[in-house]
This record gives sequence, structure tokens and C-alpha cells, in this order.
Amino acid sequence: MMYEEYDDSPLQFIKSIRIYLNGDSSKYLDLKIAQNSSWSDIQTQLDQKFPKFKEMRLFTQQGVEIFKDDVKFFKDGQSFYASRGDEFDPHSPFSQYETIKKLGEGGFGCVTLARHRITGEQVAIKVIKMMGNAQDIELNFREAEVLRSLTHKNIVKVFNSYALQNTQMAVIMEYLEGGELAERLRQKGRFQEEEACKYFRQVVSAIAYCHQKNIVHRDLKMENLLFCSPDSDDLKAIDFGIAGIQCPTNNDHVNIGSLHYMAPEILGGKVTRVSTSVDIWAMGIILYKMLFGKVPFNGKSQQDIIFNVVNKDLLLPPNNFSEEVINLITQMLEKNHEQRPRITDVEYHPWVNTEIRTPQQKQSLLQIPSEGNIRKSRPSLSPRPRSKSPNPSGIVKHPNIFKL
Ligand SMILES: Nc1ncnc2c1ncn2[C@@H]1O[C@H](COP(=O)(O)OP(=O)(O)O)[C@@H](O)[C@H]1O
Ligand SMILES: [Mg+2]
Repeated sequence: MMYEEYDDSPLQFIKSIRIYLNGDSSKYLDLKIAQNSSWSDIQTQLDQKFPKFKEMRLFTQQGVEIFKDDVKFFKDGQSFYASRGDEFDPHSPFSQYETIKKLGEGGFGCVTLARHRITGEQVAIKVIKMMGNAQDIELNFREAEVLRSLTHKNIVKVFNSYALQNTQMAVIMEYLEGGELAERLRQKGRFQEEEACKYFRQVVSAIAYCHQKNIVHRDLKMENLLFCSPDSDDLKAIDFGIAGIQCPTNNDHVNIGSLHYMAPEILGGKVTRVSTSVDIWAMGIILYKMLFGKVPFNGKSQQDIIFNVVNKDLLLPPNNFSEEVINLITQMLEKNHEQRPRITDVEYHPWVNTEIRTPQQKQSLLQIPSEGNIRKSRPSLSPRPRSKSPNPSGIVKHPNIFKL
């Protein structure tokens, strides 16, 4: 049974669905379906509005074909695509949107601002070129599905992802109009400790949520933290996780931008599998940069930067920052990834967690000795062995990541 108008018996209509026309999402039909609605009910309704739907095929928004027996599993609010027998047109979901402008172009693809033709809702659409064999690409999609399941106030909401032709994938996500944290820092030069703390806590919260789910961001940097609006201090992390198997379309741009944030164990070729400790390192770099206005390890060339990240000791310029924040930076920028704190340690660090106030509590949580370049008046904290540089030669073994 199917009815187009609402019947006042509430049990009759259990689900509302929308069916777009394959290839032209400006045309659609809203239906209310009942428990016993059948495939042919849907077909008849469609045929009445858009003739010649005798050979109807239905697809999900991801282009997966669905069949007669699936009707009873339709969920309230779901959208589908109907064709007159044709294959799914992967551009269908996009015809719902009109492009407004380009938002950014990174090494892995292009991000555009778009508006939904019917609801007017603005979204950001990222088109990614994938690399690898069919299995890698399959993995990519599964990862995208995981990202879609992330729900956190400091993580961009991904609404949908689609396969396109030529091993491309499109990700539709919420539009964050406040610009990059990198840009706000550029305008100010550096942040006061209080302001830095406000932003840093949000990053901690987002990354704690991910690490709990064994998701590593892999490309945390100030360009990948966006404000919700220009006058808001609410930050969200973007550009998640799939970096490991994405295909760089623009090597130079990606590498230089991310290089400053990459952990020594990756750059030094000590590990080949990324783990959560790379995010902790990147967060240490972000915190350092917010306070000092520059990155701690720099260089004139990619090779210089890599050498310095791997080998050079952390030096802190003269400053009046609190003992806590200096302690936190020093811990996070520990070269030995096995000795680096985990995200829960960061969450409970007294600089991040102001609930921890008693001197005893603070003392027990500040575990790394302050170095000579930290103010002398600070109490010395319990010593911990310092790691040796993991790769004194500075040899880089990541040909896939960098073209040197
Ligand atoms: N959801 C979004 N809202 C607004 N701008 C975005 C959004 N996603 C990305 N951008 C802009 O596009 C740039 C590149 O996007 P990103 O996902 O980081 O791609 P890449 O992997 O190429 O770095 C970002 O730095 C940001 O300026
Ligand atoms: Mg990015």
C-alpha cells in the first residue's frame, strides 16, 4: 500500500523517503511508505510523476543497487536514486548541489563550497584522487565510512562519500566558514597562553576521541584546523585519516606544509606504520607554534628540515610562559615515540585540565625535567632519561612520501 497524502491513521505511514532521478537530482519525489508497501507501489508513484519508469532500478546515495526485498528495510528519511534501467550515474549526488567557489586545493584534491539546490544548505565537497590497486581503494572507502561515523564537536561532520570515475572519491561535509587556525595565527603573530590553551584543548578533545577509536589523524597541522565561523573560537579538525593511502597530486605543496609537523620516527625511517604518537608530536608542534609564532625545527630545504626534526634538540626561546605549558611542549616533542605521552596523559596534564590544581597533583603529572633553557626559578621535576636521536645520520627512508 502506498499513499501520497498523509492519512490520519498514524500506523499507516511509517517512513518518509525521497527518490531523486538518476543523473538529475533537481527532480525528485517524496513518498510516504507503509509497512506493506511494495516495489511496484514505488514504481507506480514514480511513473505517475515522471513517466516511463516501468524498468525502474533503485540505488542508494552511494550507488549501491537495491532490490525488491530491500523495501522493507528502508529507513525513515532515506534518499534513493531511481533510473529507467540505466546504470547509476556517479554524478547524481552532485547535481543536488551548485558550486559556489573553490575553498582550497591541497596535495590530495580540491575542496569546493557548494549549495544544495533545494534546501539551500551549504556544504564543502572534497574530491580525492586515490591511488593503489582495487584492494587499496576498497580500504579507502571503508576508512571513509569510519570517518563518516565520527561524531564529535571538534571534528568536521562528514555527511556522505561517493565513488566517482577514475578512482576518485568525493566527500561531502559541513562547511566551516571561519578559516584556518594557521590564518588566525598569521594575523596575530602569536597567541597568548590563554588563547592557545582555548584552541589546544579542543584539539586534545578531538584527538582523544579518535585515538580511543584507534583512528590516527596523520596530518594534524594548523591548516587542518578550521574555525566554525569568523567570530567563533570553536575549532574543528578536518582532512582525516585516509592520508596514508591517498595519492598526492601536488607533491611540493603537501610535503612542505606537513613536513614541519611530521614526527622524527617517520622522517628518520624508524617506523613505517603510523601510530597515535605521530599525532601527539604534531600537537606539540602546533602548541609550540601557537606560542612562539614559528615551528621548532626548520630549515632551508626539505632535507634540512628532516635532518633537524630527527636530530636537533628542542630549543625554547626565552619566554615568560608557565612552567606547565613548557613542560607539556617538552614532553610532546620527545624524539623517542615510545616515551612520548599518550593522549590521555595530555588530557590530564595540568595545563590542559585545570581541574587539577593542588601542587601535589601537578607535581606528579609533570614528569619531564625542565631543560637549561627553561627559566631557572622553576622547581626541578623528577628526571626521566632522555632519548638519543633515533637517526644521527639523518638518512631518510620514505621515498613514497617525499621527493628529495
Ligand atoms: N569543511 C570545510 N569547510 C571549509 N573549508 C574547508 C573544508 N575542508 C577543507 N577546506 C579548505 O580546503 C583546504 C584543503 O582541504 P583539506 O581537506 O585539508 O585537503 P588536503 O588534503 O588537500 O590538505 C583546507 O585547508 C581548508 O582551507
Ligand atoms: Mg589539509
